[in-house]
Amino acid sequence: MTRQTLSKEEIAGRLRRIESLPTLPPIVSRLNQMVTDEDVTAVKLGQVIEKDQVLTSKLLKMVNSSFFGFPQRISTVSNAIVLLGFNVIKTLIVTSSIFEVMQSSDVGLFEHSLGCATAAGILARKCGIKNPEEISTAGLIHDLGKIAVRAELPKEYQHIQKLVNEKQIPMREAELEVLGIGHPEIGGYLARQWNLPDRLVIPIETHHEPSKPPGFSSISAVIHFADILIRAVGFGYGGDPWVPALDHQAWVRIKFGKTATRQILEELDQKLAELGNLTMEIHVD
Ligand SMILES: [Fe+2]
Ligand SMILES: [Fe+2]
Repeated sequence: MTRQTLSKEEIAGRLRRIESLPTLPPIVSRLNQMVTDEDVTAVKLGQVIEKDQVLTSKLLKMVNSSFFGFPQRISTVSNAIVLLGFNVIKTLIVTSSIFEVMQSSDVGLFEHSLGCATAAGILARKCGIKNPEEISTAGLIHDLGKIAVRAELPKEYQHIQKLVNEKQIPMREAELEVLGIGHPEIGGYLARQWNLPDRLVIPIETHHEPSKPPGFSSISAVIHFADILIRAVGFGYGGDPWVPALDHQAWVRIKFGKTATRQILEELDQKLAELGNLTMEIHVD
């Protein structure tokens, strides 16, 4: 197979099925409409979501997982909206079916994503970034493009994996060779189609090159570094065994001293141990 066997339009066409996943339910457009209404409350939004019991139980499991790190159990959706913000809840609803696919088909990537979400949350708090839960969510879905390629372009995905193993190259390099486009761009494209906010979309699009356009921010730097950190500590499997190169500008933006680094690693270690339990719990279900 040579480079650019599929045009960008063809790839976009194949991804359209993912854009309209069966569980991207009417509930999402209903919720989107509701949030434009200034009088809408978290309780009203929560009531709409809670009509769907399966979705509610999935959501509550996610919001109570250790990567968000709330000390007390969140027992209602409206409470989750108040604590985490609507953007986070909406992202979890939109991506919940993708995570189901990932849990059963690619445990390594699932753990890598949970781990990156955990690291991103810890780093965001250390950097004093507003709404760290949103940053955790960006970490959770940063490799969304990989799941999309695996699900909708299986032949190409196999070829990518073969190249990774044979040429010993990072997954993104193999994606560029086979598809002419990498998972960050594909993930970003999907996230835009789902109307997720730029605070989440841009870090997905640029997590391997955070200082490049469309916009460099501390959030992009955090997701980039969280991805590297979680690979470096060996938690989960992101599709190839290499730790991505660190972007110098991103490092300058969030740079930590020795003491802070030690604290971050200790906290990460503890949270990853708790995460192990969540992963098990989800698998048993
Ligand atoms: Fe990635
Ligand atoms: Fe990753």
